[in-house]
Amino acid sequence: MTFKTEFQLILAVILVGIGSSLAVADIVNINPSKDNTLYEYVVADGDKSNALGDHFFTGETAMSELRRGVLAFDVAGNVPAGSTITGVTLTLNMSRTPSGTARTTELHKLLADWGEGTSQASGEEGIGAPATPNDATWRHRFFDTIFWTTEGGDFSATVSASQSVGAIGVYTWSSPQMTADAQSWLDNPGTNFGWLVLGDESGSATAKRFDTRESTNPPVLTIQYTTSTPTPTPTSSPTATPTPTPTPTPSITPTPTATATATATPTATPTPTPTPFSHPLLFPPVSTDGNVSIGIDEACVQILDGPCTNMWTYGGTYPGLTIRRPTGETTEVTFTNNLNAAAGELTVHNHGNHSTAVNDGQPDSLLIPTGGSRTYSYDGLEEGANQRGKMQFYHDHRMDVTGRNIWMGLTGMYIVDDPADPQTLPSGVFDLPLAIADRQFDANNQIPYVFDPNGVTGDKFLVNGVYQPYLEVGDRKYRFRILNASNHRTYNLTLSTGGSFTQIGTESGLLPAPVTRTEMRIGPAERLDVVVDFAGKLGQNLYLTDTLTGTEILQFRVTQHIIDDSTIPATLRPLPDIGEPTVTRNWSFDRTSGHWTINGLRFDPNRVDARPVLGTTEKWVFTNPTGQAHTVHIHDVSQQCLSRNGGSCYAYETMKETWYLAPGDAVEVKLKFTDHTGMFMLHCHMVEHEDDGMMTQFEVVAPRATPTPRPRPTPIPRPTP
Ligand code: C2O
Ligand code: CU
Ligand code: CU
Repeated sequence: MTFKTEFQLILAVILVGIGSSLAVADIVNINPSKDNTLYEYVVADGDKSNALGDHFFTGETAMSELRRGVLAFDVAGNVPAGSTITGVTLTLNMSRTPSGTARTTELHKLLADWGEGTSQASGEEGIGAPATPNDATWRHRFFDTIFWTTEGGDFSATVSASQSVGAIGVYTWSSPQMTADAQSWLDNPGTNFGWLVLGDESGSATAKRFDTRESTNPPVLTIQYTTSTPTPTPTSSPTATPTPTPTPTPSITPTPTATATATATPTATPTPTPTPFSHPLLFPPVSTDGNVSIGIDEACVQILDGPCTNMWTYGGTYPGLTIRRPTGETTEVTFTNNLNAAAGELTVHNHGNHSTAVNDGQPDSLLIPTGGSRTYSYDGLEEGANQRGKMQFYHDHRMDVTGRNIWMGLTGMYIVDDPADPQTLPSGVFDLPLAIADRQFDANNQIPYVFDPNGVTGDKFLVNGVYQPYLEVGDRKYRFRILNASNHRTYNLTLSTGGSFTQIGTESGLLPAPVTRTEMRIGPAERLDVVVDFAGKLGQNLYLTDTLTGTEILQFRVTQHIIDDSTIPATLRPLPDIGEPTVTRNWSFDRTSGHWTINGLRFDPNRVDARPVLGTTEKWVFTNPTGQAHTVHIHDVSQQCLSRNGGSCYAYETMKETWYLAPGDAVEVKLKFTDHTGMFMLHCHMVEHEDDGMMTQFEVVAPRATPTPRPRPTPIPRPTP
């Protein structure tokens, strides 16, 4: 587990220059100080425990024996005394269960201390091992001398938090009561005995197995807090080179809802008007594993002040779990559809990835049914080489309801790290993703989706799921990977200082050379990889502003002096040589009979509009004869710009996979169909246009075998008249 060490590095960076601050918001991720299972006492088996095992258990086994988990975290050892804890999230990996049926799993505060000895269960660990001295057991707090007052553990009747746990995957618990528990443990460490994890004990085979601190997927407690007294200022700047692994700070803390529907009205409390720049920018949790399990879960996410917002999430947060992987390595991601059956079947597209057709998230086949799972495999390769480093993102792609599913929260970031990219660019804690999205909230902070073929937009702007946040930065260069995660809205981004961004990349990785820009238009699904230099701005606040609405989306507070060890090379990555096109196809993003169409036709999963040949290069011409903009997105491979509106392409759009076409625009690109045959999509990424029909598919086909000359029929002589 590296969260802790990475966090310490981040903390070291944050501490520099903090001396003048009065209140500092911070986040720490910690693993348990101990965890164990209370195995129900059966006379014939004796007292069982599992101090050193990889798993703990909850619920009732098929043999009708109860299991309860116990785990504790050293809050006082990781959060400065006197801090105010503002949010707590517990993340557990559930790795085995007799059935994927959802079971209520509660946290209860433990009221007495308990121990871990040296017992270690074998096999799947479900039956435990004979207890050793000081082990917690069903009967004992410390085997075999100190007993619980009540068998099965002394715990508060109050439910600290509840979560519905179904199929294998990662689950989170978060609630005001958990925050209160953690605060009490910080203030009175002698009362910190942790939580009992109580599963469904109402019938047999309800058991769930979770991973322990000894495992490779240990429990994580994320604690957000503010310190009221300044921490002493270290005099030197950080010496450690930030690791290229991302900031593991978690996203907003979801309050679990077991059964609420997405549009449920949780309370009738009037919602306070949110204050911009009152919440720190957060980042979703990050997985760097080659094997990731993500539950597609409903969660109540705290976005605005007041009631939390019921959303559909990848792993309990919005945006979902960030996947960050080295290029060239295989990544397998298993998604489990835990949504209410009303959400229907789902499909997940890794946007920008060079996936095989079956792993591309087809809109109407290879779907994930309610309660079911699907594993997508990505090999990280393209044409025998590593895929280029870039920020991709994954999102739902179900035919007709992609807009609804994305609006409800089904979006996550996916970063590919590439050692062939210049390593002097800002990295580690200076390399931050920014997913910008708008939402319309009702009086109860809910986001009911009402389809409108002309696009669904909202009046609240979120960055990484936080409403108009602030970010504390140092007076140096930062790399921001900006994603427009909105359904329909386009932004035009500027810096309030009038200063410039150095754009270093697009959806498709680094540009051949950096491009200086003072404003950047970004349509849905486009990405901008930029460097912003805050040098000379110490003590100032500046803003990332959308000039189309005049909204300051993100506030930068330059609060720290940090030595800048990064540089932007004059050249970045050359374009791959994909040869010259041999075939031209025209794609008109049009409006026909009251619907959005491509070449006059709406999407039909039974129609294929092009069959390019594997290994060949084609020229595709996109035109927009309509009065509205479209962002044209092609799956499978990136495209290189040949011309825009008959002239040269912008220097910052040499290679992309999502193209902004304002009314009347025409863009010519070339693309080479490498590696994969099969069906891929081509559509407008203003997702309501897509759902209305502005999508089609092309099938990459294998080259035909060299034709064998057909024998010529012997000509029959024509009778002479
Ligand atoms: Cu991001 Cu076909 O989609
Ligand atoms: Cu895509
Ligand atoms: Cu469109």
